[in-house]
Amino acid sequence: MALAWNLVITLILLLLQQSCFLVTFASSNVHIVYMGDRMSQSEQQLVEDSHLDILLRILGSKVAARRSILYSYKHGFSGFAAVLSQPQAKLIADFPGVVRVIPNKILSLHTTRSWDFLHVKQDIVTGALSRGQSGRGTIIGIMDTGIWPESESFRDEHMDNPPLHWRGICQEGESFDHSHCNSKIIGARWYIKGYEAEIGKLNTSDGVEYLSPRDASGHGTHTSSTAAGVAVENASFMGLAKGLARGGAPSAWLAIYKICWSTGGCSSADILAAFDDAIFDGVDILSASLGSDPPLPTYVEDALAIGSFHAVAKGISVVCSGGNSGPYPQTVINTAPWLVTVAASTIDREFSSRIILGNNQTLQGQSLYTGKDLSKFYPIVFGEDIAASDSDEESARSCNSGSLNSTLAKGKAILCFQSRSQRSATVAIRTVTEAGGAGLIFAQFPTKDVDTSWSKPCVQVDFITGTTILSYMEATRNPVIKFSKTKTVVGRQLSPEVAFFSSRGPSSLSPSVLKPDIAAPGVNILAAWSPASSARLVSDAENEDETELHPLNFNIESGTSMACPHITGIVALIKTIHPTWSPAAIKSALVTTASLKNEYKEYIWAEGAPHKQADPFDYGGGHVDPNKVTDPGLVYDMKNSDYIRFLCSMGYNNTAISILTGFPTKCHKSHKFLLNMNLPSITIPELKQPLTVSRTVTNVGPVKSNYTARVVAPIGISVIVEPSTLAFSSKRKKMKFKVTFSSKLRVQSRFSFGYLLWEDGLHEVRIPLAVRSAVHEFCGQI
Ligand SMILES: *[C@@H]1O[C@H](CO)[C@@H](O)[C@H](O)[C@H]1NC(C)=O
Ligand SMILES: *[C@@H]1O[C@H](CO)[C@@H](O)[C@H](O)[C@H]1NC(C)=O
Ligand SMILES: *[C@@H]1O[C@H](CO)[C@@H](O)[C@H](O)[C@H]1NC(C)=O
Ligand SMILES: *[C@@H]1O[C@H](CO)[C@@H](O)[C@H](O)[C@H]1NC(C)=O
Ligand SMILES: *[C@@H]1O[C@H](CO)[C@@H](O)[C@H](O)[C@H]1NC(C)=O
Ligand SMILES: *[C@@H]1O[C@H](CO)[C@@H](O)[C@H](O)[C@H]1NC(C)=O
Repeated sequence: MALAWNLVITLILLLLQQSCFLVTFASSNVHIVYMGDRMSQSEQQLVEDSHLDILLRILGSKVAARRSILYSYKHGFSGFAAVLSQPQAKLIADFPGVVRVIPNKILSLHTTRSWDFLHVKQDIVTGALSRGQSGRGTIIGIMDTGIWPESESFRDEHMDNPPLHWRGICQEGESFDHSHCNSKIIGARWYIKGYEAEIGKLNTSDGVEYLSPRDASGHGTHTSSTAAGVAVENASFMGLAKGLARGGAPSAWLAIYKICWSTGGCSSADILAAFDDAIFDGVDILSASLGSDPPLPTYVEDALAIGSFHAVAKGISVVCSGGNSGPYPQTVINTAPWLVTVAASTIDREFSSRIILGNNQTLQGQSLYTGKDLSKFYPIVFGEDIAASDSDEESARSCNSGSLNSTLAKGKAILCFQSRSQRSATVAIRTVTEAGGAGLIFAQFPTKDVDTSWSKPCVQVDFITGTTILSYMEATRNPVIKFSKTKTVVGRQLSPEVAFFSSRGPSSLSPSVLKPDIAAPGVNILAAWSPASSARLVSDAENEDETELHPLNFNIESGTSMACPHITGIVALIKTIHPTWSPAAIKSALVTTASLKNEYKEYIWAEGAPHKQADPFDYGGGHVDPNKVTDPGLVYDMKNSDYIRFLCSMGYNNTAISILTGFPTKCHKSHKFLLNMNLPSITIPELKQPLTVSRTVTNVGPVKSNYTARVVAPIGISVIVEPSTLAFSSKRKKMKFKVTFSSKLRVQSRFSFGYLLWEDGLHEVRIPLAVRSAVHEFCGQI
C-alpha cells in the first residue's frame, strides 16, 4: 500500500536547464514611466489620455505617441510603458507628475512524486487537502509562458463556475479562443509589447511560439498543473515516474498571464501590465517562477517587486522562485519582504540506472534516458584520451563543446568528469552526440538533479563511481561497459534535501530580511507539459539523421521554478480555510510550521560543497509542512505601512518610495526599523553590542492560550526573551515581546543560526535566528 502511494506523482517546474540559454538585454529602448497618485475608476480613460498627452509633447504627433505607448497602467499604480530614446526618457523625467523613469529589463524563467511526499493526500481526513477543500473558491494567477489548455490536468468536470467578483477575460490569439477557457482556466491573457519592443517582432510561422496564451515552451503548463492541476491517472515521462499526477490545490481556479516567451525571457513592462490586470481581475494568489540574476535591482526598480507590492497591498499573496544559482551564498533573488521566496528540495524518488563493467562489476548512477539500444557492451574511453587536435585534454576531460575527436569517439561509451568550467551534463551529452559516441557517463559532485538525454544514454554518477570506472579502464586492455534501463525508485533515498542549484541567502540587497523563506520540492518533478515543445528522439542510434518528434504531455523538470508552484498550491489551501489572512500571516504560517527534520527525525541536509546540515540561508524556516500550515497557533502579521517603513529604512528617498506606493509618501527620519520589522525570522548581519529587537504575535489558535518561549541560541550568542510567557485571551489577541542578543565572541564571526519557539503544548511556533557578530572598529586595532 505504501508503495502504491509512493508511485503517485506530482507536478512542479524554475527551468534549470533552459536558463543557461536565456539572453539578457543590457541596453533598452522600452522605458517605464511612473506617475503620481492613482485616479479613481471613472477617471481611468483620462489617465490614459494624460499618458498620451505627455508622449505627444515629447514626440510631436498623436500618431507617434500612439505608436510609442505599450501599456497604460491603471489599477495597482499609475504610469505607462513606452518606446523612448534615452534623451526622450530624460525629457519625460522632468514632466510634472512624473515620478521616475526606469529602463525596461528582461527577466528569465527559473525552471517535478512531490505532493504525496509532502503528505498532501485526499485520504488524510484531517489533512490540508481535505480541510482546504482542495483549494475550492480560490483563484491562482500564474505568470509564466502560458498554458496548454487541452492538457488533461486542466479538465473542469468538478469545477464551479467562476465567482461573481471575477473580472478576468479569455483573451484570444493564435490557436487560442474563448473555448479554451473553461471552469478550470477561468482567465487567460498575454503580454508581448515590451518584449517585442526589445527584441523585434516574433516570427511564429515556424510554430515555436504562439501570439496568444497558448504555451509553446511547457514551463507555464508545468507550473500551472503543479499548483492546481486535477488528478491525471497513469501520467509519466516516457514511462518513468509513472502514476497519478496532480496539483496541490486541484479544486482552485487558474488565471493565466503569459508574460514569458519560449524564445527566452520576460520583459518587465509586460510583467507590470500583468500585475495591473491580475489585481483588477481579482486573483487571490500570484505565482511567478521567474526573476533576474544577481546583481539584484533595487526594490524601487524591480518590476516584480513593484508589481507584487501592489498585489500584496490588496491582500494577494505573491509566491516567487528564489533562483537557481546555488549552492553559493548570497545568490537568492526575489528578496522583497512582502514576497514568499521559495527554495528547491529533493524528493524521495530517483531514476536509477545500472552500469555493468566488463569484469561484471555493477555500479549505480542516475539517468532520464528512455531510448533504445542498451543491451550490448560498448568499448569505453576517457574523454581526456580522445581530445580533438584543436582542443586540450582538460576540455575533453569534461566533454566541453567540440572537444572530442569524432573518429576516436564514434560508437564508444565516453567517460567524462565535471570540471569547474564545465559543470553541465547537458553540454557533455551534446558533445558526445555530436562526436558520434554511443553514450556518456558523467562523473560529478553528488546531486539528485538529473538531466534529460534524448538521443544517447547519459548516466550521471558521483566522483567515487567515476573514479572506480576509470581505475577499471586503466587496469583492462579492452574495457567495455553496458548501460541498462532506467528504473523509477521511490522511498529509498534520504530526503528531502535542499537542492544543489537552489540559491542561498543571505539576501545581497537586504541581508537583514531572511531569504529564502521556505523550501518545497523542485528536483525531477513530473507535471503537465506543452506537446508543442517536443523533444527530438533519435529513433535509431546508428543513424542520426533519422529523428522522430515525440510530443510530450508530461515532463520531468528541476528548478526553483518547480518549487514555487508547490507553495502556491499550499497557499491556496490556506486561503480557502482562512480567506481573511493577510499575505504576511500566510507567510508566517508557512515559515513557523516548516519542518527541520525528515521522516526519520534526522535534520534535513543541503546538497552542495560541502554537503552539510541545512540552515536558514538554505531553506528559510525549513521544509514546508502542508498539514501544519493551516493551524500555526500564532502568526507574525504585517501591514502595508510596515513595508513602507522597510523601504524608508532601506534609504530610498520619498520620490522613489512614492512610486511603489502609488501615493505621496514621506519617510520619517531616524527610522531604525529594519531589524524590528515583524518578520517570522530575525537576522542580524552585524551584532556589535547588545541589541534588542521587538516582535508582535497574533493568536489565531484557541482564544485562551498560554505560550512559553524556548530558545536554541546561535553558537556564541546569548539570547534573552522578555516576557518569556504570553497569555492570550479574548481581550488579548496580540502581544509584543523583546529579544535581546549579545555576542560572547570577540572576533568577526560567520553567521550562526538558532531558533526561537513559542510553545503552548499544541503548537510549536518556530522562527529562525541568524546572527553574525562583528567587532567594534576601535577594538579591531592591534
Ligand atoms: C518567418 O519565418 C519563416 C520560416 O522560418 C520565413 O519563411 C518567413 O519569411 C519569416 N517571416 C518574416 C516576416 O520574417
Ligand atoms: C492506468 O493503468 C492501469 C494499469 O496499467 C489500467 O488498469 C488503468 O485502466 C489505466 N487507467 C487509465 C485511466 O488509463
Ligand atoms: C561475467 O558473468 C558472465 C555470466 O554470469 C560469465 O559468463 C562471465 O565469465 C563473467 N565474466 C567475468 C569477467 O567474470
Ligand atoms: C582524430 O584522430 C585521428 C586518429 O588519431 C587523427 O588522424 C585525426 O587527425 C584526428 N582529428 C581531429 C579533428 O583531431
Ligand atoms: C531618489 O532616488 C533615486 C534613485 O533611487 C534618484 O534617481 C533620484 O534622483 C532621487 N531623488 C531625489 C529627489 O533625491
Ligand atoms: C494562563 O495563565 C494564566 C496566568 O498567567 C492563568 O490564569 C490561566 O489559567 C492560564 N490559562 C491556561 C489555559 O492555561
